[in-house]
Amino acid sequence: MIKFITKSDYGEYMSGRDQVVLEIFKEHNVKSQSQEWHLGSPQKRYVFDLVYGDLLDGHVKNRNILDIGAGMNGAMQRIAENNTYCVVDIMQQPAFGNVRYLQSAWEVLNGQGTVDWDIVICNDLFPNVDQRLLMFLDKFLPHCREIRMSLTYFNHPTWYQAKRVGGDEMLTMLQWNGLNVAEVLGENWGDKVDSDVMSGFTSNESIFPNGRQVCVIHLPGGAT
Ligand SMILES: C[S@@+](CC[C@H](N)C(=O)[O-])C[C@H]1O[C@@H](n2cnc3c(N)ncnc32)[C@H](O)[C@@H]1O
Repeated sequence: MIKFITKSDYGEYMSGRDQVVLEIFKEHNVKSQSQEWHLGSPQKRYVFDLVYGDLLDGHVKNRNILDIGAGMNGAMQRIAENNTYCVVDIMQQPAFGNVRYLQSAWEVLNGQGTVDWDIVICNDLFPNVDQRLLMFLDKFLPHCREIRMSLTYFNHPTWYQAKRVGGDEMLTMLQWNGLNVAEVLGENWGDKVDSDVMSGFTSNESIFPNGRQVCVIHLPGGAT
């Protein structure tokens, strides 16, 4: 399943559901960057709701959930109340409610661990904060029933300067566009990237002030 973020769907979300999602974030006063983003940006809350909505409302229970690069936010306790909810992030975070937190990079984890995961989530990490989307899918898809993720890209040329850790060089990082994302997903979808999906990936429609494009995907994993 793939959902491209459109202005009309966002408008519908803003006419009701956003108030519910905002209140869930306010239930716990967590001090973190992710919490600040979600309190300040209805667009970010909309994407969050597309990725996590069924988990927030208690419709999905008793699942083993792994959330990579999640940071920490006030809505997490809702998910952890009904599920085994493990967050992995490279940043140190304070302990919070029933959330199991591991400070680590995803690439050093064993994909399978001691159990297969029901759901592996990744919200706003690939393909530009971390460009190793294909490596991530190869590692985790065989060991979960489902991967769901939001992917952020730019269909107009956008670049950032970054300083190399452990070196003096300045790197200029051109952000991935939709075609770059489609090419990597095609490795997993085979010939299922049809023309409707391709036109979604090349659309310039954006609800974000910086003009970025976002899609949310659900991929079936190999675990039974
Ligand atoms: C753009 S933030 C998104 C945070 C949160 N998911 C959200 O949407 O607000 C990216 C997150 O990924 C984490 N991160 C970056 N590289 C990582 C890695 N290799 N392994 C695990 N987490 C990573 C960062 O520390 C940060 O919390």
